Amino acid sequence: MTEVVNVDPVRPNHADIARASDCLRRGGLVAFPTETVYGLGVHAMDRAAVRRLFEAKKRPANDPLIVHVASFAEIAALVTAPPRSAALLADRFWPGALTLVLRRAPSVPDEVTASLDTVAVRVPAHPVAHALLAATALPIAAPSANLFSRPSPTLAAHVLEDLDGRIDMVVDGGPTAVGVESTVLDITVDPPVVLRPGAISIDMLRAIVPTVQYRAARAHTSDHASMPSPGLLSKHYAPRAPLTIYQGDAAAVGEALRQAARSAAAGGQRVGLLVAAEDSSLVGDMHDIDGPPVVSAILGSHGDAEATAARLYAALRELDGSHVDLILARDIVGDHGLWRAVADRLHRAAARVVVVSPRIG
Ligand code: TXA
Ligand code: MG
Repeated sequence: MTEVVNVDPVRPNHADIARASDCLRRGGLVAFPTETVYGLGVHAMDRAAVRRLFEAKKRPANDPLIVHVASFAEIAALVTAPPRSAALLADRFWPGALTLVLRRAPSVPDEVTASLDTVAVRVPAHPVAHALLAATALPIAAPSANLFSRPSPTLAAHVLEDLDGRIDMVVDGGPTAVGVESTVLDITVDPPVVLRPGAISIDMLRAIVPTVQYRAARAHTSDHASMPSPGLLSKHYAPRAPLTIYQGDAAAVGEALRQAARSAAAGGQRVGLLVAAEDSSLVGDMHDIDGPPVVSAILGSHGDAEATAARLYAALRELDGSHVDLILARDIVGDHGLWRAVADRLHRAAARVVVVSPRIG
């Protein structure tokens, strides 16, 4: 049985945090909210417990974990010879949605780092995460609290959907604010490389370390062990139903979506649509479609990256909950700030299946 503990997201009850913390100290698996997504915490130095966590998530052992600590000072025991940029970046962005990859200390278990010579570390900002880390006074390894390859959880209900009965406890502190996972920045290389875009954008990072680069685009992202960061697998964060992204101008995409929905529904398939508020009209009235009713989920709005990020994973899970057979989405194009992170996650959820619609007229 997985125990659910409800806490106030701003001022969590001390006794509840103490119980969750005891569970972690004894090697238990405890899901808790961070400002990005829910994490599944485990005592990072307890190898057997870390192995249980990989089993609970069905996560391949070659995908390393992020170690969460209460303050920058606590990374000293986990890393060796951090570059000067570590302190500068931590000073500006911690606590917050930035994960730093550093050279590991020998004491960090191979189970946590997937035997790499580096370790990923983060100080989360959420008051519940912070209270839990402070009470436990141990480094806590915490991947997102979903089954491997599923969308990350932004609600305690999402954690239970995937992991009920497989973990010891969920600390429910309500919805997470950011909605997509932290920016992962590798500072063991020069120039430093963004391995995963997130709420801390490259421009924000460059204000501290001007040389920061995106990872060079690869022609083919395979699922093999040589990945610089296994979370870069091209199919990840995915709903159960196959997702196809439509690119092009609004009219052409609207037409392509209507056609695709019509033909899928005619074949008896339940169609899910993932669209921004402004695009719901593009899709037009689909009530006249023959076949199962079309289900739509509103993603957010073109002008509002924060709202879109906060909704993305919940919207994907809602469509899965409606038992759709396929999902059609209009592309989210964004190179700036949080849009880049949202576009990255949407394209991974689609396993990079993209249809380009030619301009109409
Ligand atoms: O926002 C987040 O980062 C959330 C919350 C819970 O903190 N955690 C999270 O963890 O997203 P996870 O395990 O789902 O993603 C961790 C990512 C993976 O892409 C993993 O490959 C990468 O970080 N990573 C971990 N250690 C690494 C290392 N030593 N070198 C390169 N990438 C690493
Ligand atoms: Mg994850």
